[in-house]
Amino acid sequence: MNILFSASEAQPYVASGGLADVIGSLPKAINRKGSDCRVVIPLYKSIMEKFKDKINFITNITVDVSWRKQYCGIFTAENDGVTYYFLDNEYYFNRDGIYGFYDDCERFVFFSRAVLEMLRYINFKPDIINSHDWHTAMIPVYYEVFYKYQQGYTDIKNVFTIHNIEYQGKYGKEVVSELMGIPMYHFSLLEYDGFVNLMKGAIETADRIVTVSPSYAWEILDPWYSCGLDRILVHKQKKITGILNGIDSDVWNPLNDPSIAGSYSSVNISGKKSCREALVSELELDDNGSPIVGIVTRFVSHKGIDLIKYALEELVSDGFEFAVLGSGDKIYEDFFREMAKRYKGKVYVKTAFDPSLARRIYAGADMFLMPSQSEPCGLAQMFAMRYGTIPIVRETGGLRDTVRDDGDKDGNGFTFKTYNALDMVDAMHRAMRTFEDKESWTSLVKRAMKCDFSWDASADKYLDLYESL
Ligand code: GLC
Repeated sequence: MNILFSASEAQPYVASGGLADVIGSLPKAINRKGSDCRVVIPLYKSIMEKFKDKINFITNITVDVSWRKQYCGIFTAENDGVTYYFLDNEYYFNRDGIYGFYDDCERFVFFSRAVLEMLRYINFKPDIINSHDWHTAMIPVYYEVFYKYQQGYTDIKNVFTIHNIEYQGKYGKEVVSELMGIPMYHFSLLEYDGFVNLMKGAIETADRIVTVSPSYAWEILDPWYSCGLDRILVHKQKKITGILNGIDSDVWNPLNDPSIAGSYSSVNISGKKSCREALVSELELDDNGSPIVGIVTRFVSHKGIDLIKYALEELVSDGFEFAVLGSGDKIYEDFFREMAKRYKGKVYVKTAFDPSLARRIYAGADMFLMPSQSEPCGLAQMFAMRYGTIPIVRETGGLRDTVRDDGDKDGNGFTFKTYNALDMVDAMHRAMRTFEDKESWTSLVKRAMKCDFSWDASADKYLDLYESL
C-alpha cells in the first residue's frame, strides 16, 4: 500500500514538538511491514541551510492560492529508507522559524494545495493521504471539493490525525474566497461558530479521524477537552479511532545514546548512575541523594504548569530537586527563572529548546513530572521510562494509556486523577516513599524500562485502518 504523510514538521529535518517525532518515526515502522509510506513537508529555510547537499530538485510547478498563481519547487531526499518530499516557495518558507507569522493561514493553505498538485509530478500514487494537525487540514477539504473526480485522484482515501485539538486554524470568513479559492456553496464544510475552522473542515471531510491515544479519542467528545469542537466530533464520532503513538526505540536507546554519560539497559542499570552524577554536576544540583525530578515541556497552561507553580516551593522543602527544560509563555518562564534564582542547587531551569540536554535529563533524573491538564498522547513519559526515569503523571489522554500507578507494586509510575495540585503532591510523596526503599525503586525502574513503547503494534493498527478504507 502507498501512503503519503503530510505535515508541517518531521524529524530529522525540522522539529518544534512531538508531531515531528511521530512524522519522523511512524513511516519507518510502516515501511518495515512492507508498505511504502512517504512524507511531505515544507522546505523551510532551516532545512535548506542544514540539508542542502542531501536534497534533490525534482521539478517546479504552479499552485493556485485563490486567484494567485504561486511558484512551488518540489525536492526530495531519502532518510532511513523513507522518501521525503519538500515543497519550496521562498516567500512562504524562507523565514526564520516555522510558525507564528501573520500569514500562517495562507502559508499552509498554499502547502496543502501544493501537496495535492505535487501528485501529478512525482512517480508515486498514494492510496492513502494521512494529514496531521491543522496545518494540513485543508488537504481532505480540497480533495473533496476539487480533486476526487479528477483523473489520477479518484481512489485516494483521506485520514486526518489530531495531535492536539487546541490548535485548530481559526480565521475570518474572508479566507475562503481570498486564500482557499473555494466556492461559497462549500462554505459550510469549513464554517464553525461563525469562523472558518480548518480542523473542522478535516473532521467533516476526511474518511477517518485518528487521535494519538485511545483515551484522547473519547475525551475530545467532552467540552472540557474539545476546545469547542465537541459538537462536530460527537456528530462524526463513528469516524474516530484512537491509536497510541510509539517512539523510535533505536533513536531512544540508553544503551547507545551518544549524548548521555553512561550506557545501560533494563538488564543492567548501573550506567544510569553515571548519567545522574553527570547531570548533578552539569546542572550544579546539590548532591545529597534527593530525588531529581525532570520536567521537559512547553510552558503552556495545558501542560499543567499551574499545578507546578502552585506546589514547587513546597516540593523543594520536602526534599525534591528539579531539572527543568522548556520554553513558552512568559509568565511561566519568569516563574521558573525566579525559582532557579531562589533555590540554587535545588532547582535548575533552562528556558530553551535543547534536545541534547533533554536526553541528559531523561537519563539522569530519577522521576519525570507531567501533570498535564490534557495530553493527546505525550511522548516524554515514554522517553523517560525507556531511560528508567519514573513518570508522575495526571491520568489524561496518552498519559492514562501508558502509565500505571505502582500502588500494587506492578506499575511503571505514579498517577493522580483530578487536576489539582494537592493530588499531584500526594503522588509525588508516594513516589518519594518508594524512592527511599532502594530495592523497590530498582525493580520499578526495571519494570518501566521493560515496557514496550515501540511503534510495532501501533503501526499495525494504522495499517489495519488504512486497509479497512
Ligand atoms: C502534540 C501533543 C502530544 C503528542 C504529540 C505527538 O504535541 O500535545 O501529546 O504526543 O503531539 O502526537
